[in-house]
Amino acid sequence: MSRTLSRASVADAVRVEIPGVPSRGATLRLTASDERANAPDAAPKRSGAGAKPKPVDKKAAKKTGKKAGKKAGKGRGSSSRKDATPMAARLDRHVLYEHSVQAVESEIDFVDDTFKDLRGRRARTLREDFCGTANTSCEWVRRRPTNVAIGVDLDAEVLAWGARHNVGRLKPAARKRVSLREENVLTVNTEPVDAVLAMNFSYWIFKTRDQLREYFRSVRDSLAPGGVFFMDCYGGSEAHKEVREKRKIEEGVRGGFTYVWDQSRYDPISGEMQCYIHFHFSDGSKMNRAFSYNWRLWSLPEIRELLAEAGFVRSTVYWEGTEEDTGEGDGEFVPAERGDADPAWICYIVAEK
Ligand SMILES: C[S@@+](CC[C@H](N)C(=O)[O-])C[C@H]1O[C@@H](n2cnc3c(N)ncnc32)[C@H](O)[C@@H]1O
Repeated sequence: MSRTLSRASVADAVRVEIPGVPSRGATLRLTASDERANAPDAAPKRSGAGAKPKPVDKKAAKKTGKKAGKKAGKGRGSSSRKDATPMAARLDRHVLYEHSVQAVESEIDFVDDTFKDLRGRRARTLREDFCGTANTSCEWVRRRPTNVAIGVDLDAEVLAWGARHNVGRLKPAARKRVSLREENVLTVNTEPVDAVLAMNFSYWIFKTRDQLREYFRSVRDSLAPGGVFFMDCYGGSEAHKEVREKRKIEEGVRGGFTYVWDQSRYDPISGEMQCYIHFHFSDGSKMNRAFSYNWRLWSLPEIRELLAEAGFVRSTVYWEGTEEDTGEGDGEFVPAERGDADPAWICYIVAEK
């Protein structure tokens, strides 16, 4: 399979994170005014919500920017033609991120189905590490009335945004089943959960084997017996290059916008990379460095060795299949022992307690 770099889409970090930052320990609750502002009737609805079937192809969804239930046109980040303020100044970077990077419906499809395959039952409790706007946690509680999610993130600003715009838009019964914790994933103490997620490569903020092993150990300790840890990973020769990739996103903003994935710096000696997301708009304005990522580019064997050292009994790579016609990934991720030397691959890693 072959794919463009921008398929290896990224997660949300507006600042350079410092592993080991002490926990602040707060659980975020919506205020009454937040709840009013975001009550389903008061809030501008996500356009076309629920109108389309879920995509089964996580990668195609990322690539095309299409997500379940969303239509191009006026949405949370949409613009008004009358407004003379440059689009870059008035659009919300979190909205743009969710439209261009995330495909939470297909991600949760994968988690839900894989857990059932492995354990013969449905997972109920899920912790979303590095949750950012908690979009994935919200998708989890929408799935079943028994589902419960805990989102963990260090950044109070992004959590507040997620509480207001995502948790606040859930139906009241579902809203009660999400809690957001402003804490460090290394030290957060949560009830044992069925599944922990670390998606969009967030765990790459840990730059040494010791730090990453420590994180994996803490995840293992947080899982209930039989619990499963899900993460994603990308790589291939393109991942080692200093390149920019642009992708037109047609939804969320009238006239669309351009998502730019910028692998700005890669250091082959330390393995560290500096990446950014920029957004470009049809009025010529730009939102540069809307998100910044200072990561180590980890390889699959390194990650799996550390998972084993952290005590996981098994880790499995779920490799993406290939569409015959295009040679592109088909969005179906299946357990694999061998991959191919694709220039830009993306996969899931599933680790069992
Ligand atoms: C990469 S993203 C999250 C994106 C989201 N998970 C997704 O799938 O798109 C990074 C998030 O991790 C948070 N973060 C970074 N270091 C952290 C830590 N040690 N503990 C908790 N959150 C952390 C940042 O505040 C940021 O919101």
